[in-house]
Amino acid sequence: MSWHPRQLAQQIGRSFVITGANSGIGLEAARDLVARGGDVILAVRDTRKGEQARGTLTGQGTSSVLELDLADLDSVAAFAKTVLAERTGLSALVCNAGVMGGPFLLTAQGFERQMATNHLGHAALVSALWPLLHAAGGRVVMVSSIAARGGRLSAGTTRQDLVEPAPYDGRLVYQNTKQANLLFAQELARRAGRAGSPVSAVAAHPGVSATNLFPRLVQELGQPRLVGASRVAMNLFLQSAQAGALPTLRALDHATPSGAFVGPARFGQVRGRPELLDVYPTGKDPAAAARLWELTEDILGYPLPV
Ligand SMILES: NC(=O)c1ccc[n+]([C@@H]2O[C@H](COP(=O)([O-])OP(=O)(O)OC[C@H]3O[C@@H](n4cnc5c(N)ncnc54)[C@H](OP(=O)(O)O)[C@@H]3O)[C@@H](O)[C@H]2O)c1
Repeated sequence: MSWHPRQLAQQIGRSFVITGANSGIGLEAARDLVARGGDVILAVRDTRKGEQARGTLTGQGTSSVLELDLADLDSVAAFAKTVLAERTGLSALVCNAGVMGGPFLLTAQGFERQMATNHLGHAALVSALWPLLHAAGGRVVMVSSIAARGGRLSAGTTRQDLVEPAPYDGRLVYQNTKQANLLFAQELARRAGRAGSPVSAVAAHPGVSATNLFPRLVQELGQPRLVGASRVAMNLFLQSAQAGALPTLRALDHATPSGAFVGPARFGQVRGRPELLDVYPTGKDPAAAARLWELTEDILGYPLPV
């Protein structure tokens, strides 16, 4: 059934954390929520960029900027500590930040950068903010991608596949991280439902949208002179970041049930209005999801909340 942003209620009195909210889809989601009266924490790795982005938000809501580097679990812990000290509840955590491709890099804790940022850091954040989500009957939104269709995570995935994949194929690792986002949302929804938890989980994907994701990839692939051209091409052919944020906003709508997957359905799911989609086969396998959950707990060194 077709959905329009006007169906999303006013957000007065509701609080949100959006990771990677200084740019692209996260910024557009923050813009909409603040315009509707929501209170949004922009969780960003560069607070200067965060403040610049915050300066563009208008409306009856409020916003603040807080440093969060998802590629560093110490930063995730410090971020959560501040939020836990300041708040008594959280209506929703939008796990939106992401990196795509680029060279093989290790994080502060020695984990492959894309998996650390896109999946492990978010899993740690969900875990740390769980008490606030639980208190408010909150929602976790995981921003996945059509790239999840190419992921190869399975019940046989090893710890090394996640933290030090070899041989390194940056594209496949990105696909795996986005599959991980989808599997994680599904598993979280199942576990929370079984445990009678008030927390819900929904996955979304933005189609293909004009954001900083692609120019950054071009830059990281050592082609700085092509960055400008990539932006021009992107703005000509891709849907806007604002359109790309609509699946995230529909995922935040109370009418969207826990366990749902939201994204555009047109042109191979590349663009269009946000629809409730069938979860991709790669995101559906409960054995793969359970294995990812178990490995994530092993890598983080503590049990996830449900
Ligand atoms: N655009 C698309 O077509 C598309 C398609 C499918 C899925 N997605 C997903 O959509 C999400 C948002 O991406 P986008 O397209 O809006 O790209 P974007 O404009 O590049 O935004 C990505 C955001 O993630 C932040 N980020 C990166 N590494 C981080 C870290 N270690 N800690 C905290 N924040 C970090 C970036 O911060 P900086 O600005 O400081 O780098 C930026 O705010 C990603 O998860 C991406 O995989 C996008």
